[in-house]
Amino acid sequence: MSLLSVMKPETAWPEQSFDCDGWRGEMAARIADFDWSGTALGPIDQWSKSLRAAVQLLLASPVPLVMLWGRPGTMIYNDAYAGFAEGRHPFLLGKPVEEGWSEIAAFNRNVVDTCLSGATLSYSDKRLTLHRNGQPEDVWMDLHYSPVAEDDGHPAGVLSIVFETTGKVLAEQRRDAAERAFREANERLKLALSSGIVLGTWVWDAVTERFSGDERFVKVFALQTGGEDTWPFDRLAGGLHPEDIERVRESMRGALSREDGRHEVELRIRAPEGQYRWALSSGRYEFDNAGKPVRLPGVLVDIHERKIAEDKLLRLTQTLEERVAEAVTARVEAEERFRQVQKLEAIGNLTGGVAHDFNNVLQIISANLQLIELATRDRPDLTRRLHVVSEAVTRGGKLAAQMLAFARRQPLNPAVVNPAKLVSDMCEFLQRALPESIKLTTSVADGVWNLFVDRSQLENALLNLVINSRDAIREGGNILLEVTNAELADGHASGLALPAGEYVRLAVTDDGAGMPDSVKARMFEPFYSTKAEGQGTGLGLSMVFGFVSQSSGCVDVKTQVGVGTSVALYFPRCLQAEAASPGGVRPRASRGGEVVLVVEDDPDVRLATIDMLAQLGYKVLSAQDADSALAALQTNRDVDLLFTDVVMPGTIRANELAKIASAPPYGAAVVFASGYTRDIIFHEGRLDEGVVLLKKPFTFDELARTIRQALDARR
Ligand SMILES: Nc1ncnc2c1ncn2[C@@H]1O[C@H](COP(=O)(O)OP(=O)(O)OP(=O)(O)O)[C@@H](O)[C@H]1O
Ligand SMILES: [Mg+2]
Repeated sequence: MSLLSVMKPETAWPEQSFDCDGWRGEMAARIADFDWSGTALGPIDQWSKSLRAAVQLLLASPVPLVMLWGRPGTMIYNDAYAGFAEGRHPFLLGKPVEEGWSEIAAFNRNVVDTCLSGATLSYSDKRLTLHRNGQPEDVWMDLHYSPVAEDDGHPAGVLSIVFETTGKVLAEQRRDAAERAFREANERLKLALSSGIVLGTWVWDAVTERFSGDERFVKVFALQTGGEDTWPFDRLAGGLHPEDIERVRESMRGALSREDGRHEVELRIRAPEGQYRWALSSGRYEFDNAGKPVRLPGVLVDIHERKIAEDKLLRLTQTLEERVAEAVTARVEAEERFRQVQKLEAIGNLTGGVAHDFNNVLQIISANLQLIELATRDRPDLTRRLHVVSEAVTRGGKLAAQMLAFARRQPLNPAVVNPAKLVSDMCEFLQRALPESIKLTTSVADGVWNLFVDRSQLENALLNLVINSRDAIREGGNILLEVTNAELADGHASGLALPAGEYVRLAVTDDGAGMPDSVKARMFEPFYSTKAEGQGTGLGLSMVFGFVSQSSGCVDVKTQVGVGTSVALYFPRCLQAEAASPGGVRPRASRGGEVVLVVEDDPDVRLATIDMLAQLGYKVLSAQDADSALAALQTNRDVDLLFTDVVMPGTIRANELAKIASAPPYGAAVVFASGYTRDIIFHEGRLDEGVVLLKKPFTFDELARTIRQALDARR
């Protein structure tokens, strides 16, 4: 039921309403019915003209108006304001404003006081916190306050025009926030696009089927020339990797049929220097209302580093298996090499032992032979035969020496050797060992370093290698003997069993038959030969191997069947200069009269030696071991020379005996004789300083010369 229908006509406001809605409205009725007698306005029938006029004005207005009357600001308002006041209406009618809007009492107090003094107040979008729906709420309003005068002219009330602008303010706030977010996003995009990663931005016009792009895009594809600002696809294709062109075309075409219209493809772009760099092209189609593609804007991003890293990783995984296999092979090879070394070591020990005994046998034969030669000088028929026998002994001696060399137990006499000079000295001699069908070339690098080796052993080794090459060449060929310096950063890495350092490399290379694996595996073994009976003893490479190892070097053999063989010897560099070769003839043999003490456990060798020394005119004493030799020394203080075997039974060792004999009171010279020399007079395979050694089997001449020299050196 509408209030109007219950309103009595006499309570309408004003009494005559004409056609003004406000004068017949709800508030008109309420105001008429309200008992104003207890308020600042007083009973309604006593209202002044001005008050009546103001209330009529207020009721007639379609905008929310409220009047605050008197100092308490008693509220009287129109229909529009009633709508604004929501839940507080009609409670507000006739209430002092501070009570009606208690949450903003201070604000209204100021309004009433200001306007009652005659001033006006205006606020636009004034923010106030009101209690609405049971909780505080921010609202915004346009507020205009002006004084209303009484009949006598002084301000008695305040007319307020109230417009709530909350909806507009909130919309503005939302718009501002959206604008700010847009601006920020725009800035971030700009930053991203200007970073080094972005190679350029572009747009593909789906209608004209042409590209346009920013400055960087133009530069990347070198599109500056020609004065155009749009380009067909083919023009860009020129800057792409040929393998990628079709893929890019396909991706752009494919994007049309995708729901999201996305295009994304990895491609390679040619740089000005000619190499290619990886980039990612991506974009999204824009369609018109009819669903027709209009344009495809996109961006080109540099992904080169990432792509390379990915590729590397991929390759790494793919080759993993291969690398594992390689590592396993390398390990197997290393183990094989180790087994070879062990095998050669074992054979070496055996060979060394055999050679020692063999030498002793030869020594007996040789010594006795020479004595027989002396005794039978008048029997030319016997002399010839004896000569044959002594040749055989010499051959046997060489054999034993080679075996010892392999066992790395031959005494070495190292000296500083200039390899360039050594090779040039040997050249003619080597040439003579070769038939005319084989050409020997020598090549010595400039400034090759010196070596510290046993010169005659090195010559021997090179001769052995050249002869092996000769035998491997069937019908004519070439042998190259070369000498170079070799700096090994890591010898082990190059497959050589050497520490890093400076080396001299002497290599003999031939274009002969080469070796199959089965031969190569055994070539260093003593007595291993593929040559016909009587043609090779199989000791050549064994000796080379032993000698080079004993000289702190290593042998490296490269061979291929049907192509040839190269055997390289590496020796450590020596920083000293070569000594001038000792000139003149060495003093020969016997002066006689001096006393020589022979110590030898083998009775036959001992006897033969005693005989030879006696022949040379020395007074000879003998002992079968070091203990009895010491006793002999003590009873015969005038012993001038101790001639002792190196290896003997007994409690005193040969080098201890030698020390006693050479020290006061005896002061004897010392000569060692041995076919098999152990560490006691060696250090690292070399003779100690001042130690004289006579290798078994020795000849009469060698014995004479060595004894004489030792005695002379003592003086
Ligand atoms: N340059 C080479 N080319 C081909 N095969 C070789 C070469 N050098 C060595 N050999 C092979 O290695 C084997 C052993 O060589 P090594 O020098 O130890 O003995 P040998 O030459 O047979 O006999 P020796 O050297 O004692 O007279 C040879 O029999 C041969 O089969
Ligand atoms: Mg040989």
